[in-house]
Amino acid sequence: MKFEKNILCIGAGYVGGPTMSVIALKCPEYKVTVVDINKDRINQWNSDNLPIYEPGLDEVVNSCRGKNLFFTTDVANGIKEADIIFVSVNTPTKTFGEGAGMASDLQYWEKTAHEIIEHSDRDKIIVEKSTLPVRTAEALDKILSSNEKGINFEIVSNPEFLAEGTAIKDLIDGDRVLIGSHNTEAGLKAAKAISNIYAHWMTDEKILTTNLWSSELTKLVANAFLAQRISSVNSISALCEKTDADISEISYAVGKDSRIGSKFLNASVGFGGSCFRKDILNLVYIARSYGLIEVADYWEMVIKMNEYQETRFVNKMVKEMFNTVADKKIAVFGFAFKANTGDTRESPAIVIIKKLLEERANIAITDPKALKNARLDLEGIDQNVSYEPDPYKAADGSSAIALATEWDEFKDLDYKRIYDSMKKPAFIFDGRNILNHKELFDIGFNVYPIGKASLTHF
Ligand code: UDX
Ligand code: UDX
Repeated sequence: MKFEKNILCIGAGYVGGPTMSVIALKCPEYKVTVVDINKDRINQWNSDNLPIYEPGLDEVVNSCRGKNLFFTTDVANGIKEADIIFVSVNTPTKTFGEGAGMASDLQYWEKTAHEIIEHSDRDKIIVEKSTLPVRTAEALDKILSSNEKGINFEIVSNPEFLAEGTAIKDLIDGDRVLIGSHNTEAGLKAAKAISNIYAHWMTDEKILTTNLWSSELTKLVANAFLAQRISSVNSISALCEKTDADISEISYAVGKDSRIGSKFLNASVGFGGSCFRKDILNLVYIARSYGLIEVADYWEMVIKMNEYQETRFVNKMVKEMFNTVADKKIAVFGFAFKANTGDTRESPAIVIIKKLLEERANIAITDPKALKNARLDLEGIDQNVSYEPDPYKAADGSSAIALATEWDEFKDLDYKRIYDSMKKPAFIFDGRNILNHKELFDIGFNVYPIGKASLTHF
C-alpha cells in the first residue's frame, strides 16, 4: 500500500510509543514508524508483551501494528523515508558538569539531530516531542542548519501532555494539543502539517498554535503548576495532622470553588513520575541562569516540599513504631509512582524503602504491575527485600503496612484476614488516603492517614 506521508518517531518510550500508536490508529493513510536504539525494547513492542503497561494500549497496537504502525531499530532508513520526524528521546536531569542535578541533559537530542542530518536527503519537519528547556529549538536550528546538503529542517514544538495510566484516553480525548513554530511562512506551513495530523480526531478549538518559545515553556509551566498544587496541599496536610483538621474535607471544600477546581488536590506521600521533578528543576535552573533568583527559589520550594512530604511520612512510621523498625517486617503496598502504570521513576516508594532499609527493616513489596521495575531500582541494596505479587503474603507476619500507591486493588482486600496474619500491634500508614480508616481501626489496626488525625488503640 502507498501511504500519503511517512511519520517517524525516534524514541519508543512512555511518550513515543503510545503517541505514535494513537496517530497510526487515527490516520490510516499515514505510515507511522517508531525507532529506538534499544533492541530489547523494540522486540517487546513487536511482541504480545509490550514494554509498558498502559490501559487500552494493547488494543490500539494490535489493531495497527504491521498495517501502518511499525517498530524497528533501523534508525537510518526510518530517517531517510520520513517526511515528519517526532523526537521523543529522553532528556534526563544532568548528572555531571555544569548544571548537574538541575539542567536537562540534552546529549541524546544533539546526537539525534546529527543522525537526522546524516541520513536525510530532502527537507523534513522535525518535531520536539520530548520536554525541552525553553529556547532549545534555537540550538537545534543551528545544528540542523549546519548541514552541508542544502536541506531545510523546520522545527516544530509539540509537547506531550499525556499522563501515564490514562495515556490513551489523554491522547484520544485530550484537553488540548499545542503546536509551536517559527512565525515564518515555512514555520507556519510546518505547524499546519502537524495540526493536520491531530485534526483527524480533534476539534479546531483544541489545537492551539503559538510561537516556538511559548510552546517549549508551556510544557514546563504546566507540569510546574500541577506539581505545585500537590505540594500546596501536602504542606497543608502537615498542618492538619497538628490541628485535627482533615485534609480531605479541606481539599473538597477548597476545590468546590470553581476558580480553583477539584482536580489534583489529593494529599499524598509525595508526587513521583519522570516529569515533575525533572521539569521543575529545569525551570529553576533556567530562571537562575537568567539571574532571576526569586523566581528560581519560588519554584524550587515545590520540590523541597515534596522531599519534605516523603521524608515526613517515613519518619512518622519509625517514630510511631516506637522509634525502631530494626528486624521488623514492613509490607509496602505499591511501588509504582501512581496507579495504573508499572513505571517507578521518581516513585516516593523508593525514598521510603531506602530509609526503612537504613533503619534495618525487612521489606516485602507488593504491586500489581511494578515488581519488575522495583527489582531494577533496588538492585544491590535488596538483601532484606522480598518481591511478592500477592498482597496477603506480603503482609503475612509483618508489623506494618505502608501504602504508597493508590491502586484500586488495595481498597478491596480482606483487611480482617490481613490483620489476623500480622504481628501485633499492627500499624497501617495510608500514604494515599484511599482506605476506609474507621473500618481498619475497628478491625484492630493503628491507622495513620495523611493530613488527618490518626486512629490508635494506645
Ligand atoms: C522521556 C521523558 O521522560 C520526557 O520528559 C521527555 O519529554 C521525553 O522523554 P519517556 O518516553 O517516558 O519520555 O522516556 P523513555 O521511556 O526513557 O523513552 C525514551 C526512549 O528513547 C528510550 O527507549 C531510549 O532507548 C530511546 N533513545 C534514547 C533513542 O532511541 N535514542 C537515543 O539516542 C536516546
Ligand atoms: C504528568 C502530567 O500530568 C502530564 O500532563 C505530563 O505530560 C507528564 O507529567 P504523570 O507524571 O504521568 O503526568 O502523572 P500525574 O498523573 O501527573 O501524577 C504525578 C504524581 O503526582 C503521581 O505520583 C501522583 O500519584 C501524584 N499526585 C497526583 C498526587 O499526589 N496528588 C494528586 O492529587 C494528583
